Amino acid sequence: MADSDPAIVVEGLRKTYGGKRAGGKPALAGLDLTVPPGTVHAVLGPNGAGKTTCVRILATLLRHDGGRAEVAGYDVLRHPDEVRHRIGLLGQHAAVDEELSGRQNLELFGRLHHLGGRRAAARADELLERFGLDGTGDRAVGQYSGGMRRRLDLAASLIVRPRVLFLDEPTTGLDPRGRTEVWQSVRSLVGDGMTVLLTTQYLEEADQLADRVCVVDHGRVVADGTTDQLKARIGGDRIDIVLRDAGQLTAAASLIGAAARAASVETDPDRRWIGARVTDRVAALTETVRALDAAGIEAEDIALRRPTLDEVFLHLTKDTKAEEETPV
Ligand SMILES: Nc1ncnc2c1ncn2[C@@H]1O[C@H](COP(=O)(O)OP(=O)(O)O)[C@@H](O)[C@H]1O
Ligand SMILES: [Mg+2]
Repeated sequence: MADSDPAIVVEGLRKTYGGKRAGGKPALAGLDLTVPPGTVHAVLGPNGAGKTTCVRILATLLRHDGGRAEVAGYDVLRHPDEVRHRIGLLGQHAAVDEELSGRQNLELFGRLHHLGGRRAAARADELLERFGLDGTGDRAVGQYSGGMRRRLDLAASLIVRPRVLFLDEPTTGLDPRGRTEVWQSVRSLVGDGMTVLLTTQYLEEADQLADRVCVVDHGRVVADGTTDQLKARIGGDRIDIVLRDAGQLTAAASLIGAAARAASVETDPDRRWIGARVTDRVAALTETVRALDAAGIEAEDIALRRPTLDEVFLHLTKDTKAEEETPV
């Protein structure tokens, strides 16, 4: 495999639990995905979208029934052992032993992966330090906080220095602090040349960690690109303006619509608020300020903001639902 070859290639991947004849709804209905090496790719989707199914197939834990999947240059069905030697997996449910200490768990994983006792111990030390667990490495895992446990899971998935790491909802169920800790740990992995495929239901998480995102719903990719591209798809940036005087709202809204070349303008008299969707963010902001100034309209607040990924996701999944409901 050349350095520039994709680390993961998925084409038309299909999976129906219980086999096609069971007549169930497919968990994966023709999923496509290409992940360049050394990048972080997020698969973003709601519960039941097919994220775990996809990860389990890529990690050779589950067989697909259509399409193809390659990891680190190897087909997952034809060369599962080659794939297994090159991957790490952080599953949705932790696999560590609560009675053992963090260090013992890591050493055990190392032994399971055929590192000798001394190398397993050295690797455990190295990983405990790397994930800020060196002070608590000798405590039983049962006493760890959610964030510490997840970091230990992450350390365990890195025992054998995988080329491709799968993280299935790494922060689901964690409090904000635990989530931030895990994010920091994931960020520290990138740059080692590792490729990371991350699944998440958190739009902010994809935005924080991933180079590219694909949005999955009902076992298919409904959108894909950088987070900026996804945001641009739903009409770019927004300008929020709060006026001092509600009486000027209508006049100001039409001025702003023209000056900012807004795609749409909304108003809310109760909040003295105007919201405009714009494409050229800086020009739109400058022209808005100028136009209000020239008309002698005072603003209490003007803010430029990017749409959140939540807005992107609602927009995109609404599109696919509308398509499905349209009779053909
Ligand atoms: N072991 C299983 N047996 C039958 N159906 C399953 C099984 N695992 C998942 N499913 C179904 O497949 C679909 C996709 O599930 P999953 O891949 O777990 O989604 P996600 O990880 O995005 O929440 C869902 O409809 C789920 O109910
Ligand atoms: Mg899942």
